[in-house]
Amino acid sequence: MMNYEKFYADRVKPMKGSAIREMFKRMADPAIISLAGGNPASELFPGEELSKIAGKILMTNPVGALQYGTTDGVPAMKECALSRARKVNAVKDGDQVLIMTGANQGIDLTTKSLINKGDKIIVENPSFIGSLNAFRTYEAELVGVDMDDDGMNMDALEDALKNNTGVKMIYTIPTFQNPTGTTMPLEKRKRFIELANKYDVVILEDNPYGDLRFRGEEVPTLKSLDTEGRVIYAGSFSKILSPGMRLGYIIGAPEFLEKIEILKQVNDVHTPVLTQLMCAEFMKKYDIDKYIEKNRELYGKKCAVMLEAMEKYFPAGKVKWTVPDGGIFLWCECSGIEDITPVMDKALEKKVAIVPGSNFAVDMSAPSNKFRLNYSSATPEKLEEGIKRLGEALNEVL
Ligand SMILES: Cc1ncc(COP(=O)(O)O)c(C=O)c1O
Repeated sequence: MMNYEKFYADRVKPMKGSAIREMFKRMADPAIISLAGGNPASELFPGEELSKIAGKILMTNPVGALQYGTTDGVPAMKECALSRARKVNAVKDGDQVLIMTGANQGIDLTTKSLINKGDKIIVENPSFIGSLNAFRTYEAELVGVDMDDDGMNMDALEDALKNNTGVKMIYTIPTFQNPTGTTMPLEKRKRFIELANKYDVVILEDNPYGDLRFRGEEVPTLKSLDTEGRVIYAGSFSKILSPGMRLGYIIGAPEFLEKIEILKQVNDVHTPVLTQLMCAEFMKKYDIDKYIEKNRELYGKKCAVMLEAMEKYFPAGKVKWTVPDGGIFLWCECSGIEDITPVMDKALEKKVAIVPGSNFAVDMSAPSNKFRLNYSSATPEKLEEGIKRLGEALNEVL
């Protein structure tokens, strides 16, 4: 029998499959209501429009769609990415854009281009598991900064910058954060930029949910407030068009992007040309803002259904939660318990799935009394039923 372990690289030995993916395996049962994933609503996917567009591209431009492309992306798709980013003032004179196979790849390759083993990355604690795992694969040391109801705590961020040597980058999801659903207000963003300037670190701003506001006022992106070219901005079409098309982008100073482009060439040569052409044509032919508007309305309604059901079914006074102004997640904290696992197990018995907070933590082994809920993917009826069952589980355990 082979000893497979001994062949693993040291840096991958400690890595475990994501607990979320494990849970998805247990969720194969179609009776399970998932409040666990991060899928956008599929009701509005423009399948018919995209099928016509794909057919036309393949009929009229088969070589263009099927031949190798350039690493930086199809020019029309780069223009689409820039037009989305210009709406939030995330493009400065001289900036470059690279089309990425999802924002995930942008985050991964940005990290690969900047981080040596042992370099420190400051992250919101909790944060997006995909990014945390990317940072871990490059053997970065993660420094977690606690979150307030309106994003990262700025005093804690300053302490982290003051008390740690070797910090190279701060990773943040300032708008409708995953997993907490919180948004950093302008004053905090200004201080964030000042601190990054003072301590001379790179900011990786991840903004896949920024377009999905259903309440309140827009807040300027960190990229728009940056005057020194230290923000690399990651955007995505996953939550505004389709995650399966795998279209994301990064925008920033050419000095940063030049190296990232070389790494992308090594990694996957380029993002599939067909989906790039499809997206560009979709944006030319249809009004994507109208499509996004429908999504925003839907998410606002679904969020309201979830919040109302939580008020009704959760044990009074025992669970605290965030109330997001957009995006697809909210975050709950239970009093009276240290670890949420018994609630998750009880909920699964009742066929409803949630994600325990430990998955998003810098220290994944520490117990967590928190959990994340998603309201974008289930129907309003399923959301109500799911929260009802989760309420029963909470009542039984707490
Ligand atoms: C905060 C955050 N960043 C990035 C991504 C990845 O997006 P993409 O599908 O563009 O790779 C996600 C997806 O869930 C996310 O929540």
